[in-house]
Amino acid sequence: MEHFMEAKRRIIFPLDFQDLETALSWVELLKEYVGMFKIGLELFVKYGPKAIEEVRKKTDLPIFLDLKLCDIPNTVSQAVKSAKALDVDFITIHTLSGRHALKSAVEAAQEKPKILAVTILTSLDKADLLELGFNGEYIRETEELVLRYALLASQCGCAGVVVSGKEIKRIKENLPKLLTVVPGIRLESQDTQDQLRTATPAEAILSGADYLVIGRPIRLSEEPVKTCNIIIQEIERALGLLRCSKKA
Ligand code: C5P
Repeated sequence: MEHFMEAKRRIIFPLDFQDLETALSWVELLKEYVGMFKIGLELFVKYGPKAIEEVRKKTDLPIFLDLKLCDIPNTVSQAVKSAKALDVDFITIHTLSGRHALKSAVEAAQEKPKILAVTILTSLDKADLLELGFNGEYIRETEELVLRYALLASQCGCAGVVVSGKEIKRIKENLPKLLTVVPGIRLESQDTQDQLRTATPAEAILSGADYLVIGRPIRLSEEPVKTCNIIIQEIERALGLLRCSKKA
């Protein structure tokens, strides 16, 4: 049971729905099988704080407000203060907002919500980065760029970073205390959709991921609860292997 709880705690389910009723029915369905719910732009742009209030009526699980803020320091810090009043647990800021915005977000939050810095979206690959003007070593090794962003996030006092499964290892080797939140998770042989830098739950956990954002692999499955259980078992096994390797 303890291992089940530890594995389920690692799963963040994004409430990527247009309609609040539908989102709430998914909260009801999955609240025993995931560790956190993520409210993102799709729901928040339409319903605002009501979305958070309604989810909270259904569960005590932590809430991650994923607004991926990217703006000047004053705007970012004021937005974080507004989020603080909503008592959410995590909020995201784009690292591209820069050092001053990241620092002002951390100061505005004061411990809660925890600030997660978005590094390079998992939907971007090298061709996209080249088009955006990145070049040299950062194009050859996306993980170098992500590591640089993670270092900045850590220097600014962020609690963690949002990264792909491919980059966790380097980050954990260099910044072991920084939480890693990993989207772009796909089960073995599943369609990756718009995600380009993907990993399986086991790969991500074995690389040191703290949390996995898993949306469509659960939402589009014919039996979401069964899929959650399969993922939980996969995470449990991976955590078991990690425990063994630490003892050895
Ligand atoms: O598993 P799936 O691809 O459906 O997950 C999509 C979710 O992951 C969305 O809520 C999206 O905002 C989030 N995401 C993220 N950071 C990325 C890529 C996706 O937070 N780099």
